[in-house]
Amino acid sequence: MAKRLEGKVALVTGSSSGNGRAIALAFAREGAAVLCADLTKSARPEGYEPDVALDTDDLIMRGGGSAEFVATDMRRSTDVRAAVERAATKFGRLDIMVNNAGVITGLQTIVEESEEQYDFTMDVNAKGVWLGCKFAITQMLKQESPNEGSRGRVINVASIAGLVGIAAEPAYCASKGAVASLTRQLALDFAPQRINVNAICPGFLVTAMVRPFLQSKTINRKLHETTPWPRIGSPDDVAKCAVFLASDDSEWVTGSMIVVDGGYTAG
Ligand SMILES: NC(=O)c1ccc[n+]([C@@H]2O[C@H](COP(=O)([O-])OP(=O)(O)OC[C@H]3O[C@@H](n4cnc5c(N)ncnc54)[C@H](O)[C@@H]3O)[C@@H](O)[C@H]2O)c1
Repeated sequence: MAKRLEGKVALVTGSSSGNGRAIALAFAREGAAVLCADLTKSARPEGYEPDVALDTDDLIMRGGGSAEFVATDMRRSTDVRAAVERAATKFGRLDIMVNNAGVITGLQTIVEESEEQYDFTMDVNAKGVWLGCKFAITQMLKQESPNEGSRGRVINVASIAGLVGIAAEPAYCASKGAVASLTRQLALDFAPQRINVNAICPGFLVTAMVRPFLQSKTINRKLHETTPWPRIGSPDDVAKCAVFLASDDSEWVTGSMIVVDGGYTAG
C-alpha cells in the first residue's frame, strides 16, 4: 500500500514522549522525514511506551526512516524559530507542523492554583503553540504555492479541555481554549494560501502526563467512568487522527476541532 506521507517533511514538538512520540513514529511509518523537537531527547521515564528507553529519532532511524532531534523549549522564540529552520535546512522544506508539546500542573481550583502555575501552563501550551504556528507558517509561505492540494498543514494538539470545562484544571482549560481559538483564527487567514490549520482535541489518554491521575484509585475510576467507550485512549488513537490531518485525504478540512475522546464530549 502506498505510504500516505511519502516525501513530506514534518516537525513534531514534544516528540520524545506520549502523543508526540506516537505521532512522530506514525508519520515516519507513512514515509515522512521527521524533525523531533523536545526539551529532552529521551522519553519521560514515567511513560507507558514498551520501548521507553529508546529515543524517538533513533527508533525512526532504526526502522529505516529519516529523523533528527533538536533540543527545543517551546517557550523560547529563538528555539522554535531554530527548529523550523533546521527542518528546512536538513530536509529541504516543512510540510507538516505538529504543535503537541504541553504540560499540566496538577488538579486544583483557581483558589489553590498559583500565578506561577498559570504562567507556566500558558507559556508552554498557549504561547508555545502560537510560536510554532508563527514560524511554521512563515516557512510554508516561502515554499512554492501549488495550484491544487495543500501548501502546508498545521496540526495543534488541544484537548477536550479547550472545548468544555474540566473540573480542577483552570489554567490548563484556559490554555487549551486559546489553542482552539487560535486554530480557527489561523485557518481563516491562511486558507487562501492553501495552508490547513486544525486541532486534535483528545480525551483522557494513557501517557506520562496522566500517570499521577491514573495512579490515584478515585481519579482513575472517574476517568474511566466519564469516558463512554470501554477503555480510555492511547497516543496511537491521536496519532491516527494526526496522519489523516497530515495527509491528502483532509485537503478541505481546516479550522476543525477533531475530537478523539471515546465519546466524552458527546454527552
Ligand atoms: N494525556 C492526555 O490525556 C491528554 C489529553 C488531551 C490533550 N493532551 C495533550 O497532548 C499533548 C501531549 O501530551 P502527553 O500526554 O503526550 O504528555 P507527555 O507529558 O507524555 O509528553 C509531553 C512531551 O512534551 C515535552 N515538553 C514539555 N514541555 C515542553 C517545552 N516547553 N518544550 C518542548 N517540549 C516540551 C515533554 O518533554 C514530553 O516529551 C499535550 O499538549 C497535552 O496537553 C493530552
